[in-house]
Amino acid sequence: MKEEKKLHRRGFIKNLAIMSGAVACGALTAVKAKANPVIPEKETPVPPIKATQLTPEMKVEAPELPWGYQELDPEYVRKLGHIGFYEKECGGGVFWAIMTALKEKIGYPYNFMPLPSRDDFFANLAGKETGKSLQVMMQYGVGGAANFGSLCGAPNGAASAITIALPYHDAEKVIPKLFRYYETTAFPNHEASEYVFEEEYYPPKYLNSKVLPQNVSHSVLCHVSVGKWCAKSGYASKSYERFERCARLAGDVAAMAVTLMNAHIKGDINTVFPTKLSKETASCKVCHFHGEKFEAGQFTRGSMECESCHTDMRPHLGENKLSTAYGIDVGKWAGAAAIGTGVGIGAHAVAGRLSKKGENDEE
Ligand code: HEC
Ligand code: HEC
Repeated sequence: MKEEKKLHRRGFIKNLAIMSGAVACGALTAVKAKANPVIPEKETPVPPIKATQLTPEMKVEAPELPWGYQELDPEYVRKLGHIGFYEKECGGGVFWAIMTALKEKIGYPYNFMPLPSRDDFFANLAGKETGKSLQVMMQYGVGGAANFGSLCGAPNGAASAITIALPYHDAEKVIPKLFRYYETTAFPNHEASEYVFEEEYYPPKYLNSKVLPQNVSHSVLCHVSVGKWCAKSGYASKSYERFERCARLAGDVAAMAVTLMNAHIKGDINTVFPTKLSKETASCKVCHFHGEKFEAGQFTRGSMECESCHTDMRPHLGENKLSTAYGIDVGKWAGAAAIGTGVGIGAHAVAGRLSKKGENDEE
């Protein structure tokens, strides 16, 4: 009972569902936690309950997703993304940047997210002992997921933050736009280099203060993005320059994620970033899409830039080696291709369809 009394504070009960035996008996009405994007009154955010305060009968329900979104300043988030990278590299850094900005703006339920504070990061960067765990969700995103070189951590961390903030059917529209932005943008942005020049980024000392070479990677893969940038710039992958390049890129991606979400809540995301697949990708997707007709090429999915990897299209000219799940040969490629419309018309149709509605709908 003592424990229950302690928990029966105004602020706490307002926001948390406590499902203990005592509560169920009717002493209290359980309040279901719900994400509310607007804070009704200015209150000190309720400190999350500590695991040690929980008794076995008590079950605290985490607030259900999504946690809501309010317009954020992309330039502020760009700077957070940059310092976030200094601490947690791309995945953790970008996730932390967006979450921190949302926590500051919205409070509950973002104060439930285990998140080191800005002061913790500053202190740690200054070499001071914080005595805290600075582990961040999505930290594994570094180097294309625990240094595996797959999806770049910056869009990965951002996508995770977007999925916490927005209803999933909205997140699913925003995320591929961010990925397409990543494929087609020369990183680091000019804004990023300007901030370095003006010394507006947060870290007390930058690892590199130069205007760094820019490169468009045409891929969301860390391996490709880092590899092409290093090859173009002449800097090694473990150089301070590469590190700084990725820190600025992290800020740029965090800023774009927020720009897209801002546009999304205002309903003008397609004006802010009209997604256009490359011509080649649109032409491939006439046949190769997430579909049910195996023989027609529908044994693939996705919208990455096809030509970044498939440069040799000669297989299409040769004998078809494809066999169905039942071991039946499909026949000559030319025969299979004849199933569809002419490629040109088809590609046009795909491109048109994509720019009209959910260009991110997997088709
Ligand atoms: C008109 C329909 C059509 C279009 C357009 C098309 N493909 Fe294909 N593709 C097929 C079919 C059907 C197969 C399976 C038959 C085969 O293996 O040749 C295939 C097979 C392939 C294969 C496997 C071939 C092998 O033997 O290794 C690759 C890779 C491929 N396509 C890539 C692409 C890319 C990249 C594009 C865009 C530049 C593209 N395709 C455009 C229909 C198409
Ligand atoms: C990151 C590199 C990459 C990108 C981007 C990419 N592919 Fe592939 N794709 C591959 C690899 C690797 C394979 C396996 C090739 C193999 O085993 O011969 C493959 C296989 C395929 C196959 C044949 C499946 C099979 O093994 O017969 C098709 C068809 C295909 N890709 C189409 C596409 C299309 C369409 C796109 C663009 C929407 C695309 N790919 C984008 C790397 C890529």
